[in-house]
Amino acid sequence: MADDWSPASWRRFDARQQPDYADHGALAAALAGLAAYPPLVRAAEAQALKAALAEAQAGRAFLLQGGDCAESFADFGPGNVRLSVGLIAEVARRLGGSAGLPVVRVARIAGQFAKPRSRAWERRDGRRLPMYRGDIVNGFAFDEAARRADPERMFRAYAQSAATLGHLAADAGPDGLWTAHEALLLPYEQALVRRDGAGWYGSSAHFLWIGDRTRFDGSAHVELLRGLTNPIGIKCGPSLGPELLLRLLDRLDPVREPGRITLIVRMGAGRIAEALPPLLRAVRAEGRPALWCCDPMHGNTVRARSGYKTRPMARILGEAQAFFAICRAEGAVPAGLHVEMTGQDVAECTGGAAGVEERDLASGYRSLCDPRLNPGQAAELAERVGAELERLRGAEAA
Ligand code: PEP
Ligand code: CO
Repeated sequence: MADDWSPASWRRFDARQQPDYADHGALAAALAGLAAYPPLVRAAEAQALKAALAEAQAGRAFLLQGGDCAESFADFGPGNVRLSVGLIAEVARRLGGSAGLPVVRVARIAGQFAKPRSRAWERRDGRRLPMYRGDIVNGFAFDEAARRADPERMFRAYAQSAATLGHLAADAGPDGLWTAHEALLLPYEQALVRRDGAGWYGSSAHFLWIGDRTRFDGSAHVELLRGLTNPIGIKCGPSLGPELLLRLLDRLDPVREPGRITLIVRMGAGRIAEALPPLLRAVRAEGRPALWCCDPMHGNTVRARSGYKTRPMARILGEAQAFFAICRAEGAVPAGLHVEMTGQDVAECTGGAAGVEERDLASGYRSLCDPRLNPGQAAELAERVGAELERLRGAEAA
């Protein structure tokens, strides 16, 4: 680990997407409280996931990351956890296919509470309030009290995460399920940094990723994660060029450790053909280890005429298929899929075999943030990706 790093060194860098906590005393008290709490996950578990990701990177397994866009305090209970676990198992079964490719299952759960936003303020009917940033920060209701950033919410997120982890251990079966979220809320993540032998790890989840809005040069998020031993993801959107990607890899993975870095590609169906090949080539030319993972959700968000944020299945399937085709053409291993999905029968993304239409969104939309696949749509995507994986393995065997 770099010797100028400490759990607080991110404070010298550019920390974007952070709430404005008015009461600094309350914030300090909450962070001190959390720092004394037990770790949510163990360092050894995060290391085991890193080893599993190294296998996927080499093409001997496939990574599935999936779950809610944002977990909520209201929508929580054993039933919901069970639905999420069941959906991940079902999607993994379809991905692994008849060939029985092992699927490394990582859920966006037990910590996926903080959301990056494209604007800091929301205006409605002439009133302006801070944007909703996820239940760990503030409330969704459009009123002044709810939208105030409240440090006490971090305890509730911690408690819900701990309760969820307890349930996952019981429900997820013998192969286990790892947890992941965007490491966005820096004070919370710092408070949960713990010792890992000679180094440090983030104990809020096994896998932490840096979002597309916070992976720039000079980012505080990059600084915090660079000192942690967890496996780490980097979201790769259309504004990420090969030079910046290589600089990020130098910082986050100087020793080139297999399983350390997952590159989560979210270019959008219309841009992936142009934006992905330069990244694949740069990483290969430098001989850097990285797991290439397809997120066909975040580059395909459109606004429906009714105002809802939605994602058309045709674009989601299109980006996933293009990802495989491009990896094949460039000689890279397509090794993972990252999706926002829910076990509830929602109507948030349009299209798919069940034919969700824009007019269905009004009654079937439940997400507080981005649109998720419902179980039918998730199964459909998994079938397509499973077929791509079988084709790939067939080509290898021939
Ligand atoms: C997300 O995964 O929920 C997200 C906000 O992604 P991105 O950083 O890729 O926009
Ligand atoms: Co999202």
